Amino acid sequence: MRNISIGLLGLGNVGSGTVRILSENRESLARRLEGRVTVKRVLVRDPSKARDVELPMPALTTDPDDILDDPDIRVVVELIGGIEPAREYVLRALTSGKHVVTANKALIAEHGAEIFAEAARRRLSVHFEGAVAGGIPVLRAVREGLASDRITAVTGIVNGTSNFVLDTMTSSNASYTQAVTAAQRAGFAEADPTLDVSGRDAAHKLAILTLLSFGVRIRPDDIATTGIDLVRAFDIAAADQRGYVIKSLAQARLGPDGRLHAYVTPALVPKQHIFAGVHGAYNAVLVESAGLGHSMYYGPGAGMMPTGTAVVSDIIEVCRDVLGFVRRSTPPEAFHGVQPATPAPLGGLEHQSYLCFHVPNVPGILGRVASTLGAHGVSIDSMDQDTPGDRELLEMVIVTERVSRARLDAALREIDAFDVTAAPTHHMPIVDPM
Ligand code: HSE
Repeated sequence: MRNISIGLLGLGNVGSGTVRILSENRESLARRLEGRVTVKRVLVRDPSKARDVELPMPALTTDPDDILDDPDIRVVVELIGGIEPAREYVLRALTSGKHVVTANKALIAEHGAEIFAEAARRRLSVHFEGAVAGGIPVLRAVREGLASDRITAVTGIVNGTSNFVLDTMTSSNASYTQAVTAAQRAGFAEADPTLDVSGRDAAHKLAILTLLSFGVRIRPDDIATTGIDLVRAFDIAAADQRGYVIKSLAQARLGPDGRLHAYVTPALVPKQHIFAGVHGAYNAVLVESAGLGHSMYYGPGAGMMPTGTAVVSDIIEVCRDVLGFVRRSTPPEAFHGVQPATPAPLGGLEHQSYLCFHVPNVPGILGRVASTLGAHGVSIDSMDQDTPGDRELLEMVIVTERVSRARLDAALREIDAFDVTAAPTHHMPIVDPM
């Protein structure tokens, strides 16, 4: 049986999962491949550190050249994360004629064009299933399973930390800060959770989903991104009373004019919607396509074994190419001739909205807010407010009818500039029932 030597860059959580799966599933992998995969070298920072996976000591190295310059190593698996030195190592691996597997979403979302161009030039494969939604094989589903179809929208709960935080706030009336602490204790949120709660991690994943779903490259920085850090226990309760839960959604949708809308935002989701049942740190991606209709991909979005599973499935795919002497496999972006694009301005989107105004209880304030909304063509579906003492701040909640973001934003700009307005209006889109 032929052997393929691979090199791992990094032996953290996902690296350890990858080694464990390669070892535990050794026999079934060999039968699937008609070949053996051997982890020849692993780049680590500290070879003496105790690890829960078994590797012969000589496999561990602190010198990337031991992997990148070894002609026997055909596949490099990058699991160190971050941009540098991961980008340099991946490009060097490709230049040396090695195929690449990575789970690095920031690297692929921000430097994919450069990496894929180098891979195409050298007829090599780059696979990155673990970069989006952890263990869920959603990229493979979109790239291969739906290659026959025309995708019109992808919407995902793709940040497990944000989902855990919002879910904890929903189930236990916790404040945002308490829920973040719970997520840290449970091992989901980092000590500095900014990348996750700001929506940036989800924007990286959405840029990759967009690439494979539409063959269009968008920059994560061009995705309108709102984090969950402004969601308050009050908003969760107000949504609940109206039949909704708040979820952080990442969406890319083709408009009727063929332009792509892409955004990450907390949104009110009807309790009957399939997304409302996605709890804890789980991920889900809902794909809308012309032939299949709605299809949903659901499972653990992170973690040693789930993401390790995605990485090993990529290793199998690349090794098939190596063993089959395939000169060029599926383009990593799923399409030939990928074009860069800028998402359409959000002003063209139409949806219902949840608004919470921060205005004082003074005579005429409700009329002032309502008539400003009306003047911009924003129609009110329902309105509630508590009535505290004179001049105390109201929590005035208004649910609008469907209206364009352009009209809504113009109305909110005017209301937020009232002399009495104490803080910017909280607003979140409301997702249509499925
Ligand atoms: N930090 C990510 C999340 C997991 O919370 O979903 C890795 O992509």
